[in-house]
Amino acid sequence: MAREWLADAAFYQIYPQSFYDANGDGIGDIPGITEKLDYVAELGCNALWICPCFDSPFKDAGYDVRDYRRVAPRYGTNDDLVHLMDEAHARGMRVLLDLVPGHTSEEHPWFRESARAEANELSGRYIWTDSAFVGTPQRPSIAGECERDGCYMVNFFKCQPALNYGWSDPSEPWMSALDAPEALATREALKDVMRFWLDRGADGFRVDMADFLVKDDDEERVGNTAIWQDVRRMLDEEYPECVLVSEASRPWWAIPAGFDVDFYLDHPGNGYNTLLRDGGGQGEDHSFFRCGAGGDARRFLDDYLPRLEAVRGKGYVALVTCNHDTPRATRTLGQRELALAWATLLTLPGPPFVYYGDEIGMRYLDLPTKEGGYARTGSRSPMQWGPGANLGFSTAPAEELYLPVDDAADAPTVEAARADAGSLWHVVHDVLALRHRTPELQADGPFELAAVREDGSAFAYRRGALTLAVNPSPTPWELAVEGEAAPAYLIGEATASETGLVLGPQSFVICQGPPHPPV
Ligand code: GLC
Ligand code: CA
Repeated sequence: MAREWLADAAFYQIYPQSFYDANGDGIGDIPGITEKLDYVAELGCNALWICPCFDSPFKDAGYDVRDYRRVAPRYGTNDDLVHLMDEAHARGMRVLLDLVPGHTSEEHPWFRESARAEANELSGRYIWTDSAFVGTPQRPSIAGECERDGCYMVNFFKCQPALNYGWSDPSEPWMSALDAPEALATREALKDVMRFWLDRGADGFRVDMADFLVKDDDEERVGNTAIWQDVRRMLDEEYPECVLVSEASRPWWAIPAGFDVDFYLDHPGNGYNTLLRDGGGQGEDHSFFRCGAGGDARRFLDDYLPRLEAVRGKGYVALVTCNHDTPRATRTLGQRELALAWATLLTLPGPPFVYYGDEIGMRYLDLPTKEGGYARTGSRSPMQWGPGANLGFSTAPAEELYLPVDDAADAPTVEAARADAGSLWHVVHDVLALRHRTPELQADGPFELAAVREDGSAFAYRRGALTLAVNPSPTPWELAVEGEAAPAYLIGEATASETGLVLGPQSFVICQGPPHPPV
């Protein structure tokens, strides 16, 4: 397969606003990312996902695209982005751009044209009813903003009109069939946007709201499947190396539809959510990695393992440390808890994604909303590079920064974390280094659940000849491991016992010996 590099990929997610400000105007930029490529490589990540960096009014931080083919001037130029991708490739790194296929900004020229009263070529580019007094079902719609008589559907915020890819079941005259000319034209326009950046060096895309192009789709997402399979056919012909990562959290749908990787997202009540932020901050928190919180690994495993099984050998489920939509885990977890969590997430199958700053345990900050971020804003503050003004993020005066830098006296920084061999940074670095040298630990490596502690407070898994175990609880756990249980990597304590080893409280281990087969 052309996308073989995914087997050993470790991604680093960058929110471009907040990573590194190379020209001192207070906001991160593309040249800033280029300057920091060596840092990302040194950490052990060999691929980037960059959040949308295209021209936009930024009412949703760039997820409201005004021009898909133009880098937002505040981040630099198209040439800067091409240069970034070239520099990444020169280091053996890959770059995924963020593709927002489902909606544009209300300021996109397509929408302005579509909103005109006179019928024109783009009248059907978005989803419009034929009366300003009759809205669209399922998703919110807006009336009274344009001269065209109709309501237009929005995907998320008011500024994000939904593009028209047709309906699986067009039950109203104003709905397009999947193969109606206007729906097919939208599909072709999407392919052209992809071609534009693939021609300039992009290695693929993270795809926003991937299973919401066709509205009112059924449980199987038949309409959305048809669209992505068609896109994949085009890619297989023209850009077989292009990687697609879906924001769907439905691997059984996404992989057969043509995606290589599907994110396992933090949705309240799903398995991933129970690891780091059970209940999303509401009600009781029994997160697995919170020491003494009474978490149960089975809540994660019972949801995660069937996802893995559904796509084994065909595609990947990606675990993320966090993303730009999710509160950083530091809101409820301390550094040791994070160390155990990151070591675990980085050694499960599929390519892992590290959200910028999670490698040093950057805090979730209590910040006023910025660019439609609301509660998400607290996870989007500037990267903390080192001591001094703005913690090295920018040379601009502090009041001119995109968002304030963490002003706590003990705010973690890359420089301090690297100098401290016991820091979280070294956990991420060392585990990724081990992963790169050990095929069993990579995306395609074998995976088997080895043991779950009776009360669910710890578990062990096997990856080929390696046994890995994590015990975030405050009490030791005795685990049977055959042969010599020499730790290849250890956080906390592991001592040999007669049948295997005793994993200390709040500990994680990777050992060479296989566990006893389950009785
Ligand atoms: C996705 C993005 C999020 C954005 C939304 C609308 O969920 O991750 O940041 O606001 O889609 O595009
Ligand atoms: Ca800048």
